[in-house]
Amino acid sequence: MKTKIIKVNSLKPEKARIEEAAKIIKNGDLVAFPTETVYGLGADAFNQKAIKKIFKVKKRPLDNPIIVHLGNKNDLYKLVKEIPSLAKKLIKKFWPGPLTIILKRKRDVPKEISAGLPTIAIRMPKNKIALSLIKMANCPIAAPSANLSGRPSPTSAQDVFEDLKGKIKLILDGGQTKIGLESTVIDLVTTRPTLLRPGGVPLEEIEKTIGEIKIHPSVLKKIKIRKIKSPGMKYRHYAPKAELIFVVGEEKKAISKIREILKELIKKNKKTGLISWQKELKPKNVIVKFLGKNPKKVAKKLFSSLREMDKKKVEIILGYSFPKKGFGLAINNRLKKAASKIIKV
Ligand code: TXA
Ligand code: MG
Repeated sequence: MKTKIIKVNSLKPEKARIEEAAKIIKNGDLVAFPTETVYGLGADAFNQKAIKKIFKVKKRPLDNPIIVHLGNKNDLYKLVKEIPSLAKKLIKKFWPGPLTIILKRKRDVPKEISAGLPTIAIRMPKNKIALSLIKMANCPIAAPSANLSGRPSPTSAQDVFEDLKGKIKLILDGGQTKIGLESTVIDLVTTRPTLLRPGGVPLEEIEKTIGEIKIHPSVLKKIKIRKIKSPGMKYRHYAPKAELIFVVGEEKKAISKIREILKELIKKNKKTGLISWQKELKPKNVIVKFLGKNPKKVAKKLFSSLREMDKKKVEIILGYSFPKKGFGLAINNRLKKAASKIIKV
């Protein structure tokens, strides 16, 4: 299969180009498209065969459910049994936007989407290309991130091409995605609202709207948990090909640990990379991605930096924790999940 990439104007999507993509979705095939977070790999949410293709193309474990994307809020009634009042508040405040909510699903929604769970994850993206594609396809679109399972999520059409060329018909190229990290996932089926994945909407903002939110233990730790809520939580995720060592702790201590590890690695002649927030941490003979201290900018560049390190054939990447507030929670969560080794200092 030849994979076509079509450039689309992200402010004023060209109708004919979106139509070509919508036709593919209607025919039960897959299209990769930009959202405000990362690129998604879309299929008609009510077409069971198309959903199965997503799992196959991404090599996604069958027990990891998929987020459904809406083009308008009313379509929610096609997917869920009831909309609790907390959901209504969140939808009003954050949709369209990078917030996914988990609700009880209707029985006629293909069970593959939810990997057999009685629930369903839903969001309405804030991206004109995504929205016009969903509207033109005239169905909710199921879409996980458009990367091979386990790889860093794609923030450009080129990233998607790298992972999925030859496996899908079309990629809509809307340029670099605005946020660069996936949506925040909140479970509203549990007794207390629970954060399953930090992301595009900071936790603090959600709490301002609906009050305190429980943080699922897997968000902070990379441990085997007995009761896995979001099946996606149990796999090594967002991972570059290189080994990633993540140092967690207070800034000064973390930096001195990084310096110590760097010395060892350079002695061993390992091709080493470093993701750094500090200007003063710019060692020689190391490929440094200096991302700065602005959390939004860091989020935007994080996944592409990991991919860049792979392209440069880096063997070991070092990273250390980012200040935890706002996007910091999501940044640290992704680095933790990508890490092959975590060192606490
Ligand atoms: O920003 C995003 O959310 C992107 C764009 C494309 O919209 N999508 C995305 O999808 O990140 P994916 O499949 O890479 O991640 C979906 C996450 C997984 O961790 C999955 O386990 C969880 O949402 N999830 C989906 N349905 C769920 C459900 N019913 N219950 C619990 N977790 C669910
Ligand atoms: Mg993903």
